[in-house]
Amino acid sequence: MLLAASDIAREVDSAFLWIGGACLALLLLVTAAMLFLVFRYHHTRNRRPAQIEGNLALEIAWIVIPGILVILMFFKGYRGFELMRGVPPGAMVVNVTGQKWFWTFEYPDHKFSTDRLHLPLGRPVRFNLTAPADDVAHSFYIPAFRVKEDCVPGKLTYLWIEPQQLGVFNIFCAEFCGKDHSKMIAELEVLAPEAFEAWVEARIADRFKPVDIVRAADPAAEEIKARDAQKLYRTYCTACHGPQGRGGLVEGARDFTSLEGWKNGPTLSGLFKTLAEGIPGTQMRSFPHIPAWDRFALAHRVRAFYPGADLPSDTPEALAALNQAYKLDQVQPPRRRLPIEKAMELLDRESR
Ligand code: CUA
Repeated sequence: MLLAASDIAREVDSAFLWIGGACLALLLLVTAAMLFLVFRYHHTRNRRPAQIEGNLALEIAWIVIPGILVILMFFKGYRGFELMRGVPPGAMVVNVTGQKWFWTFEYPDHKFSTDRLHLPLGRPVRFNLTAPADDVAHSFYIPAFRVKEDCVPGKLTYLWIEPQQLGVFNIFCAEFCGKDHSKMIAELEVLAPEAFEAWVEARIADRFKPVDIVRAADPAAEEIKARDAQKLYRTYCTACHGPQGRGGLVEGARDFTSLEGWKNGPTLSGLFKTLAEGIPGTQMRSFPHIPAWDRFALAHRVRAFYPGADLPSDTPEALAALNQAYKLDQVQPPRRRLPIEKAMELLDRESR
């Protein structure tokens, strides 16, 4: 009936329907009794009203029955609450950061982040939720899983889910957090365990893909064109910068169509540095989780907003220095920790 993608969702639904059902039953009962009494004891039929002093049995009944109902509701709700708060041991961890106005999902076991949440089917996941200290409160909300929890600046909160249905589900921000609150939307894709593993592998390969600085500096290179720079710009930049690179939506946001006042310069290396480290003392924050190739694609996108032909470019020396400073040509994937079941399976196969 309702899209419920986990046990928690079913528990919430059953509490909701139970309480809703009890309320409906009471409403019908009281209304029916009232209508009956209005007609039965109409003054035309009862010229002399009787004085009724009290009825002990009735009074006990209307205290005890609603009392039992309310206590049942409490236990029903408490059971769901306990399920929601009790994270099963061994749950996979995803760190969720809500900020103006996008979500970042970090997989600490695999050392990469993404803006589109992917989870494996049938495995409990604990979300550690927070917001940057200089941001505002947001609220992480996945309707199909009936879970919602605040992301408070400088504070850690949590919730957990166990996806039991494949598919794509909406993630919303449920706390009014400013101008683009309504655009603070992300997606959760639940994959079969093998597909999830493959996705993780691909993300790690992408995140730690060594950069060929000469190709990265070429906006026409295959590696750059393969990335959806417009989407990256929309995801990370348009909360503050204009969609056409012109004008700022927050005070002091840079206009990319002008050469005035660049702190790190409008060169590729300047933009790369700005994305990697932010600009201290301004609202420009760092985006360290964006993979290096994506950062270059984004920098090319930003540079393309400038309408003239006199946009300064990096010298080969500057590019070499950037390469050196960020060790771009030697990024290596971190050693994968083998899941215990996988390790046992391999050992088992070897010993046979
Ligand atoms: Cu973040 Cu609303």
